[in-house]
Amino acid sequence: MTCYNNPLFFLLLSLPFLPFTHPKLTTNYYHKSCPKFSEIIQSIANEKQHSRPSTAGATLRLFFLDCMVGGCDASILVTSNSFNIAERDADLSLSGDGFDMVARAKMSLEIECPGIASCADILATATRDLVVAVGGPSYEIRLGRKDSLQSKSTDAENQYPLATMTMSQLVTLFTSKGFSIQEMVALVGAHTIGYSHCKEFSNRLFNFSKDSESDPAYNRQYAAGLRKLCENYTEDPTMSAYNDVMTPWKFDNMYYRNLKSGLGLLATDSAMYGDQRTKPFVDMYANDQARFFKDFASVMEKLSVLHVKTGRKGEVRNRCDSFNQLGF
Ligand code: HEM
Repeated sequence: MTCYNNPLFFLLLSLPFLPFTHPKLTTNYYHKSCPKFSEIIQSIANEKQHSRPSTAGATLRLFFLDCMVGGCDASILVTSNSFNIAERDADLSLSGDGFDMVARAKMSLEIECPGIASCADILATATRDLVVAVGGPSYEIRLGRKDSLQSKSTDAENQYPLATMTMSQLVTLFTSKGFSIQEMVALVGAHTIGYSHCKEFSNRLFNFSKDSESDPAYNRQYAAGLRKLCENYTEDPTMSAYNDVMTPWKFDNMYYRNLKSGLGLLATDSAMYGDQRTKPFVDMYANDQARFFKDFASVMEKLSVLHVKTGRKGEVRNRCDSFNQLGF
């Protein structure tokens, strides 16, 4: 009997993705104080995505990592100074487009309604708008997050997933943040857009084992193409590959379909199909894009309220890259 014939499987499926809210956040938070909040962000997100198509992937990853490390509080946007190594300088390899996206929106919002819009709300909203801009589902973003008063690279230790992690380590990490295995699989569907640097998967390409130059989990032609692409990556560390080789610019369910054909880029991507705990969900999302969109939208709503700061636990920063007063 496959798991699809088992009624318990469907019962378990219906447990996650319950509506997720936060008592202090509201959808109309800026209604009076900054009525053009949504309009301004959406227009800058569309404009920026048009001129720099890598913006959506960069911003989505920035948002995900910000939320994983101490909550969705824009702590990832703060730059280091002589007294403090900030979260963004933990070895996260973040692309500049996400930071630039938020900085542009913040600048326009400061002109329109000074001191009102938090960087954390801007990042959450811009991420949603960019997912939609590249074809993904829309979802509600509740507003009223405050920006963190602290940002330390050491806070990032063991708080975000690495391509070298085992599935058990990933499950432990996501569970510790309140996500089920199914929610983890739905979230990682974000790898339908964006890039990864060669160093993140080069161990799968060269001298993989004594029997095989590359990881046999890769489709052979795909592995040959990646080996060519990454042959000089040590001299040029910027070399990178699309996460979704088939439809790299489109938010769709191709990520899951790729996994079934040996086209998963990172070891952790391939493991999503190789591990019995995650494979049923990969199969389901590969077969049903509407279901993936529905679940991705719900889990992004849940991610977007993870450990948010409200009231005096944070501030509305004047600039997203620094605290209003010298802080750490
Ligand atoms: C299983 C857990 C995950 C692992 C191990 C993982 C790991 C990675 C790695 C190593 C990269 C490449 C970074 C680089 O080379 O610059 C990457 C890229 C990316 N990740 Fe993940 N990730 C995971 C889950 C997620 C989730 C849950 C999201 C969002 C909800 C996400 C969104 C992205 C995006 C959009 C990119 C492309 C970034 C860009 O184009 O600049 N990832 N991920």
